[in-house]
Amino acid sequence: MTRQKTILVTGGAGFLGSFLCESLVADGHSVICLDNFHTGAREKIAHLMDEENFELVWHDVTVPVHADVDEIYNLACPASPVHYQSDPVKTVKTNVMGALNALELARHTQAKVFQASTSEIYGDPAVHPQDETYWGNVNSIGPRSCYDEGKRCAETLFYDYHRQYGLEIRVARIFNTYGPRMNADDGRVVSNFVLQALKNEPVTLYGNGMQTRSFCYVDDLIRGIRALMDHEPGVLHPVNLGNPVEFTMRGLADLVLELTGSRSELVFRPLPQDDPRQRRPDITRATEALGWQPEVPLRRGLEKVIDYFDGVLSRRPARVEVPAALTARPPLAVRRRANGGAAVGPLAL
Ligand SMILES: NC(=O)c1ccc[n+]([C@@H]2O[C@H](COP(=O)([O-])OP(=O)(O)OC[C@H]3O[C@@H](n4cnc5c(N)ncnc54)[C@H](O)[C@@H]3O)[C@@H](O)[C@H]2O)c1
Repeated sequence: MTRQKTILVTGGAGFLGSFLCESLVADGHSVICLDNFHTGAREKIAHLMDEENFELVWHDVTVPVHADVDEIYNLACPASPVHYQSDPVKTVKTNVMGALNALELARHTQAKVFQASTSEIYGDPAVHPQDETYWGNVNSIGPRSCYDEGKRCAETLFYDYHRQYGLEIRVARIFNTYGPRMNADDGRVVSNFVLQALKNEPVTLYGNGMQTRSFCYVDDLIRGIRALMDHEPGVLHPVNLGNPVEFTMRGLADLVLELTGSRSELVFRPLPQDDPRQRRPDITRATEALGWQPEVPLRRGLEKVIDYFDGVLSRRPARVEVPAALTARPPLAVRRRANGGAAVGPLAL
C-alpha cells in the first residue's frame, strides 16, 4: 500500500488542478488545494469539498505559504493566452514568485516539488517534433512572453534549487491538454470549436487552418504527471507530456462538426502574433523513463468535452466522470466559511 502523504496542489481549482486533486484524494492522500480563483472555480472541486482528506485554501502564490507537506505540485498560473495576457505583469509574478515560494516551502519541509511547465517554453519551434534537449525559439518581448519567459524562469529556478540546495524536483513540459472543466471563455481551440459548433455559430479558424497542434486528453496527462512525481529514483530532466498525434486545425474543426452534427460554417481570420505554426511533443523520454503514453484517442476525448459543454449550455449538471473511490459519499455543495475562505488547516497564512 502506498504511504499516505500530505500534498499541496497550487492552482488546484483550475482545469488540470481539479483532476489532479481528484486523483490524489481518491488514492487517500491529504490534499491541500490552494488557489486564488483567478481562472479557477469552486464548481470544479465542489465534489471534493466534503472529503475529509481535502482542504481548500484561498491564497495567492505570489505570497509565501507555510505548510507541513510531503509533496508540492505547482500548477498555479492562467494557461490560456486570453487570461495570461489580460494582466501580463501578474502572470510573470505568478510564474516567478509562485515558483520561488513553492521551492522555498519545499526547501523548508524537504518536500518533493513538481513544476507544471509548458510546451510554450519551445516558443515557435525551429525543430520538429520537439524533444527536451531543444532550447526553444522564444520572443522575449512579445505578447506571449509573460507566460513563455515566466515559465522558462520558473524552470531555471527549479534547477538552481536542485543544484544549490539538493531539492528533489520534477518538471513536466505539458503540451495542449483538453477535457471537461476547461473554461468556456478562455479562447482555447478545443473549447472554442466545440462551443461554436454546439451553438451553430461560425467556427473560427486562424490563418489557413493548416497549422498543427497535438491534443492530450486530461486523464492521460494526469496519469503522466503522477507517474513522473512517483518515479523513484527521480527523473531529473524535464519531461514532455502530451499526445504526439498531430492534427491540423482544419481537421479538428471538421471532426468537431461531425461529432456535434452542427450546421456551423467555417470562417477564416488572420493568425495572431507569435502563434506557433506547428507543435508536437517527442515523448520518447516519458515512454522510456516512465512507461507512459497517451491512450485516449481524440475522437473519444472530444465526445466527453462535447457532452460536458452541452451540459453547461443547457444548464444541466455536467456529466464529469468521478473516480469510483469518490462516489462512495454524495458530493456536497462547496462549504462556506465565516471568513469567506476555506479551511486553512495546518497553513499559517
Ligand atoms: N491546459 C494545458 O493545456 C496546459 C498546457 C501547458 C501547461 N499548462 C500548465 O498547467 C497549469 C494548469 O493549467 P490549467 O489548464 O489547469 O489552467 P487553469 O487556468 O484552468 O488553472 C490555473 C489555476 O491557477 C490558479 N491561479 C492563477 N494564478 C494564481 C495565483 N497567483 N495564485 C494562486 N492561484 C492562481 C487559477 O485560479 C486556476 O485555478 C498551468 O501552470 C499551466 O501553465 C497547462
